[in-house]
Amino acid sequence: MNGGFTMAPEVLFVPTMGALHAGHGDLIRAARKMADGLGERPAHVVVSIFINPTQFDEASDFDAYPATPENDLKLAEEAGADAVVFPSVSEMYPEGVPVSTERVDYGALTSSLEGGKRPGHFDGVVAVVRNLMAQVKPRWAFFGEKDWQQLAVIKRLVQLEFEGVEVVPVSTKREPDGLAMSSRNRRLSGSDRRGASALYSALKRVAESPDPPLKCAEATAALESLGFDVEYFSVAQGDSLESEWVSGKMRVFVAARWGGVRLIDNVACRQ
Ligand code: PAJ
Repeated sequence: MNGGFTMAPEVLFVPTMGALHAGHGDLIRAARKMADGLGERPAHVVVSIFINPTQFDEASDFDAYPATPENDLKLAEEAGADAVVFPSVSEMYPEGVPVSTERVDYGALTSSLEGGKRPGHFDGVVAVVRNLMAQVKPRWAFFGEKDWQQLAVIKRLVQLEFEGVEVVPVSTKREPDGLAMSSRNRRLSGSDRRGASALYSALKRVAESPDPPLKCAEATAALESLGFDVEYFSVAQGDSLESEWVSGKMRVFVAARWGGVRLIDNVACRQ
């Protein structure tokens, strides 16, 4: 009993762009597990599906982004979502989709790696996540380590603007051959799909070597000889994305084009 007052449900939020796969499923399952562990407190696992136009730096990538709403509903429900929301473009951007969103500068978090290669990308991510969080009002928000830099950017956003919200990281779900699951993987055809796992093998080789920064150039050359167009292959601190070596904090990050698809991935350095 709580004196006759109805407790507002806690919201556990999983924002996505749809085309859900087992990696998204892990986020929803993690939220479900936490919600079920809250005991008597009412809790709702809410998944949002919105292909956010402002975070695509290439129109062709936005146009080709898969939309699979029926499948998404089924996967979300099976993974334990209580509600799936599909905000419309006009709900998210009542004044119309802006040509560019407010510049977000969190230092290396927004300027390095993806920030350097995809101008405006994190501006769009921050704009939409800020807007979604303001509407959904979560207590916990779940983000995948697959997009490590995004996770770090969102942690900073929440720290600066959303008191009382906790960001919960969820580890990267991989295919049996190591390829990180991604909605874009379905654009890879047979042999390209098989070849794509070389990216993860290269990451692991570098992360497990005694001197990862030294190995990045070699791994880049090896991937390029296979036909990958490597945008970056580098080592940075996991929390700040600064590149100075601090033992125990470092991760290896890669972005490369392969079979017409841009793939990103990251793993922790062994030391
Ligand atoms: P989307 O690419 O749909 O990813 C939604 C969430 O699922 C993100 O937190 C992402 O890191 C996580 N995710 C994707 N693939 C994963 C995998 N293989 N293992 C674990 N988690 C994985 O990221 C976005 O959408 C958008 O930028 C968004 C945050 C929704 C803002 O528009």
